[in-house]
Amino acid sequence: MTSAPTGESPGVEPFDLDGHLRQEARSVEAALERSLDRIGGLISEPAAAAVSHGVLSGGKRLRPILCHAAYRAGGGLASDEQVYDLAVSLELIHAYSLMHDDLPCMDDAELRRGRPTTHRVHGEERTVWAGASLIPMATSQVLWAGERMGLGRQQAAEVASLLLEAAGAGGMVGGQALDLLGEGRRLTAGELDTLHRHKTGALLTAALTMGAAAAAAPASIRSAMATYGQAVGLAFQVADDLLDVTATAEELGKKPSDQELAKSTYVALFGLEEARRRGNALVSQAREALLRAGVESRPLHALAEFVMSRRR
Ligand code: IPE
Ligand code: IPE
Ligand code: MG
Ligand code: MG
Ligand code: MG
Repeated sequence: MTSAPTGESPGVEPFDLDGHLRQEARSVEAALERSLDRIGGLISEPAAAAVSHGVLSGGKRLRPILCHAAYRAGGGLASDEQVYDLAVSLELIHAYSLMHDDLPCMDDAELRRGRPTTHRVHGEERTVWAGASLIPMATSQVLWAGERMGLGRQQAAEVASLLLEAAGAGGMVGGQALDLLGEGRRLTAGELDTLHRHKTGALLTAALTMGAAAAAAPASIRSAMATYGQAVGLAFQVADDLLDVTATAEELGKKPSDQELAKSTYVALFGLEEARRRGNALVSQAREALLRAGVESRPLHALAEFVMSRRR
């Protein structure tokens, strides 16, 4: 992964983004394994291998990493292990969304994270079943982890609602529906923004707002996290669309391309240069929201840049 310039002041040790991402991803993997050990036993055997394939197959783990950074920026003091136990609820939803996204009735993808997709290995039936079982598993995870962190009932319910609303018809699922309905049509810029804000932006925003809510951060910080999440969430999908055109299937570890699927994308609508300009402007908006609220979190500033500078 490539480090982004993070606008550090002279004399200040540069932030090691690559090292941060590697270390945080390890914490996410460990929390995912704990989670599968704890509740994975409830998933019956034929689907269990498909769950492992979809959940423990690498990936950037960006959503839990952002959630942890937001929790710390909001002043939360629970242990890293407890925070990651909460934050991986996002990754369980994300993993299910990708398993279903790759199915023949959706993007009919053969490659994900450099490996054959879950249904190519375990079959469609088990992939549908495994993906669906991750939704209640994520719900159970967020409530269990919230209780262990000492969140009150109301606070735990708020954090869980942020996750579930972002995952549902008003968020990711709704965005996936718009994405499929948009195939082969040329969407307007407004329609594309709405699609992406739902499909990708909602869950990424939830990563930030869940972290701030679990930390019981003051309103000014919560609002900055929501603004940052919305901007970075949209920029993330702009970058996804750009990489789809500029990187090879081998580099990305995923196949087929948006063009093969006749998808509406930022690149198709605006061209490479304008799409990149819009993505970078969103990253600046995200960082400005942090600065206005006095949030000095180096990880959050660097992660905003990473969203556009990433190579996969
Ligand atoms: C890919 O998400 C799908 C989108 C929401 C754009 P990521 O790029 O976060 O995928 P992984 O988890 O790192 O593989
Ligand atoms: C998928 O978007 C977003 C999800 C909610 C899973 P894409 O279809 O663009 O994601 P990739 O490019 O296959 O990772
Ligand atoms: Mg898709
Ligand atoms: Mg896809
Ligand atoms: Mg894509």
